[in-house]
Order: sequence, then C-alpha cells, then structure tokens
Amino acid sequence: MVKKKVDRLDWWREARFGMFIHWGLYAVPAGVWKGEDNPGLGEWIMGRLQIPVTEYEKLAKDFDPVKFDARAWVKLAKDAGMKYLIITSKHHDGFAMFDSKCSDYDIVDATPWGKDPMKALAKECAKAGIKLGFYYSQSQDWHDPDGMGNGWDFKDEKKKDFDTYLKHKCIPQLTELLTAYGPISVIWFDTPCKITQQQSLRLKRHVHKLQPDCLVSGRIGNELGDYGSLGDNQRPPGAVEGDWETPCTLNNTWAFKTKDKNWKSVKVLLELLASCAGKGVNYLLNVGPTAEGVIPKASVDRLKAVGDWIKVNGEAIYGTTGSPFPYEHDWGRITCKKGKLYLLIIKWPRGTFVLPGLRNRVKGARMLGDKRTTVTVTQSHSKTTDAHIIELTLPRKKPDTYVSVVELSIVGTADADQMPLQQPDGSVNLAVHMATKRGPKSVCVGRHGSLEGWKTTSTSLGWAFNMHRPGAFRVIVETVLNGDAKDQFGTHEVAVNVGRQSTKGKAGRKDMVEDRGDNDWRIVESDIGTITVNKPGLCKLSLKALRLDKKANAGLTAAGVRLVPIRP
Ligand code: GLC
Repeated sequence: MVKKKVDRLDWWREARFGMFIHWGLYAVPAGVWKGEDNPGLGEWIMGRLQIPVTEYEKLAKDFDPVKFDARAWVKLAKDAGMKYLIITSKHHDGFAMFDSKCSDYDIVDATPWGKDPMKALAKECAKAGIKLGFYYSQSQDWHDPDGMGNGWDFKDEKKKDFDTYLKHKCIPQLTELLTAYGPISVIWFDTPCKITQQQSLRLKRHVHKLQPDCLVSGRIGNELGDYGSLGDNQRPPGAVEGDWETPCTLNNTWAFKTKDKNWKSVKVLLELLASCAGKGVNYLLNVGPTAEGVIPKASVDRLKAVGDWIKVNGEAIYGTTGSPFPYEHDWGRITCKKGKLYLLIIKWPRGTFVLPGLRNRVKGARMLGDKRTTVTVTQSHSKTTDAHIIELTLPRKKPDTYVSVVELSIVGTADADQMPLQQPDGSVNLAVHMATKRGPKSVCVGRHGSLEGWKTTSTSLGWAFNMHRPGAFRVIVETVLNGDAKDQFGTHEVAVNVGRQSTKGKAGRKDMVEDRGDNDWRIVESDIGTITVNKPGLCKLSLKALRLDKKANAGLTAAGVRLVPIRP
C-alpha cells in the first residue's frame, strides 16, 4: 500500500480556527502615552509616536504580569474551538517576550517579573493538544539600529545593514524559538517591508532546517510562505485559491488598549468565521492581554459564545473546504467535505429553503443544532434548462440565533453549476473572477480577490447569466479597500449596463470608509442606482469605468456586482 504523503499543511487545513495573541511592552501604555490617547493600534504606539528607544525601553520596568495564567489562556482557546495558538514572541518594537540570549531586551532579563511565559504556554499547549506558533517580526525591529522601521532614532538609512540584524538578532532568536519550546507549528512572520527574496528564503530554510514541519506564514515576504495571509480583518472576497488565513481582531486593536471598547458582536464574529470557512480560509482571531497578564473579560465572553456555537456546529468548520459555488449567497455561507455539504444560514428563511445549482444527489438533511426535527428534501432537475433545484422544509424556529447549520448528506464530492445563477430571492451575485475581461492583460484578479491594476477606462468586465425572475434591481458595485492605505481611496465613476439599460454612479467612495487609523480591509458596497429587466432569459451585464480617480493608487479594486431585487 502506498502511504499518503503527509503535507505540512494537513493539520492546519483541518484546524480552520486559531487564536492570535498580541502581548508585549505596549500593553503597559495600553494606547495612552503621557496622558494622551493614541488613535492607532496598541502595539504600534512606539512607531506612531516615534518614541525614542531609550524612553520606550523603560516600559520593561513596569511590565509585571503577575496574573498571567498559561493554563487559563490555553483553556480559553480550546473552549472557543481554536486548534492553534500564535503568540507575539517579538513584535515590531523589538522586545523579546521569551528568554533570549541574543540580547537583554527580553522579558526575563528586563522585567521585574523575570519569567519566560513561552515555556509555560508550550507546556500547556502540549497538554491540551493545541498547536503552538510564534509571531516574529522579521523585518521591522525598532530597537535594532539595523532593523527596519525606526527612522527616528536611526536616521541614516545608508548606515543600516539589514543583513547584520538578520545575523545577530533575527536568525539567532529564531533558533532559540525553534529549539527551546518543543514542536512549533508556525512562525508567523509579518510586514516583510523591503526584505529581499534571498533574505526571505534564508529565513524559510532556517526554520525548516530546525523544524521541518513548522509552517512559515505568507508575510515572510516574496510569496514564499507555506500559506498566504489575507489582509487584517479581511472578509475574503471573490474566489480564494490555495491556502489562506485571515487574522482578525475582536475590537479595533491587536494589543490591549484601555480605551478600545469597540468589541465585535458574537454575530459578527460567527459570520466572519463562516465567511472564512466558506472560502476555505483559516480564521485567526486575536486577543490582547493586559500588562498584568489578563485577557479582557469582553474578549473572554465573546470567545466563550463562539465556543458554544462550535460545540454544536464544529463539523461545518473543521476539515472542510470552501463553497463549491463560485459566488456568495446572500442568505449565508457554504462549506463542504466528502459526502457532506453544510449550509451555514445567517438569514433563516420563512418556510422552504431553495438552493439552485447543486448537481449531487442528496440523501438526507438535518440541522446540527436540532437533530430531532426532520428536514425534508425535494430535488428536481429540468432537462430543458438543466436547472438543478433542492428544496428543504425548515422549521419556523431557527436552531441558532446567529448562524444555523443544515447538513446535507450528498453522494460524492460537491459539484455545483459554475454559471452565475439568479437566486430564489431574485438576487444575482457576479464576482470579478467569473467575468470576461476586456482590456490590458496586466489587469487581473489579485490575491485579495479583487481586480488589481484597473487604472484606465480601457478595462471592462462582462457576465452572462440566466434571468428567470425579471423585475427592478438595485445595482451594487463592491470594491475592496485597505483602511490604512489612504492612497488607495478614491471615488470612481462607473456604469453598469444590462442589455440596453444602464445606470451609473460612484464606486469605492472615500466617504464610506471611516478613518479609524487602523489597517483593516473592507468590502465597500456602492449603490449605483436601479435597473429593470423586462423579459426572462439570457442576460448580459457589463461593468465599465467612466472616470477613474487618479489619486487612488490601487485603481478601481472591484470585487463584483450584485443585483438586489426591489420588491413592489
Ligand atoms: C499588521 C500590523 C501588526 C499586527 C498584524 C496582525 O501587520 O503591523 O501590528 O501584528 O498586522 O495581523
């Protein structure tokens, strides 16, 4: 018998959900510097305010996490349904949160507490069966004269020698992390900045030499990660091919900030989890402990609620792959594995639930949150239109407040019609990767699921689909924006044509993204008017740019067009 080759990523694909922990000296100011509230991310306080190294270093004396409890942290992750835990071993500020022999700028040597929390975490993770990984800022190191990012203490860029920093700090510290704490599942590199391909490769080889099974995150730079990293807080748009992870916050910051109380609701968290799983993307959800070593209660409460949901519905997440459909459904998300298709329903229907386009035979259906109530399945196929329809009778009461899962037992592996289909509620979702593109070849769907390089009016997109329930529709153009990259913002003028009908409006509007000083990725929905389709049958829709905002460096980052029926 031929043994199946074990892929480094097997456990990671199975896991789908992990805990991120941002913990370091920045938890001491917790967003407030000299009495003033800092609007940015907690762990960026040194960089944002350009605090001199000599001043920032003093924070170590006040870092005394007497309430740190590795067992409680790991238990929280486990109870939340998370399968791995990634903690900041060194963030951009350069402070090592482990016992490092390369410098005294570490938690054991520089703080009154004097302990190595990674030792305790490694032990508890091993006991609980949680995979431990380390975040390590490989390029930015604001404490090291040769590291990247600190232009206020170390002004002369010409004097900097990044290779020296790699040799004296980065690589030796990686060796420490990979030799003193048992098996490490991931080295979570971040913000590659100007790291060269050769340097990224050197780090990757070093990690794999010491621990061949250890993964390196996509942010190692130069596309060398074992898996890709989506933007911070990015709900994956479009189609996501390959292995990806999206890191997400519970509020607006990663590291603890006293003033940040903008907690996401359990509903939003579960929808994000479903949205990631629905694209086969891992969800890495962050907590920011205080300088005392306590994970804020608001975070604990939310993770517990997520855990309660996972206990019932985990089958729809673990070991699944994304939806077999090439577009998203307005009612919720889909995941699947061999013989199963999971409908993660966010908008619970009244009465019958209709799913068009699945070609597999369905053997039965049940609700994970209420296995006693029967769900009847009716399946039909029209020979003339080749339309496959599945109808489910669902009870009025949804089994879960936020996301209710219906499991379909199917014959074989999920096989869905790849044509855009009008949904039973009349809506049509047209993602950019499903479009026929006109114009320069260089404009293409990028890693973030949206178009990259659409900077002239010579590009346009077209889709064909069958309209069986004509009527009036609102036309929504979706674009993807990074909240931190102000140079990407713009107000473009676009037009959508369906047959002879046309509507135009503004897309990617600046005013739709509030300035929170963070680096979240958002899908911006721009309503560009209405369109009426009079006859059923084949429909052709096109998206054109009439005028592109020159100030928006990324161009028109379109992710798709949605038609939403207007009810009389
Ligand atoms: C960004 C930030 C960083 C944070 C990370 C989490 O790259 O620079 O502060 O650690 O995102 O994904």
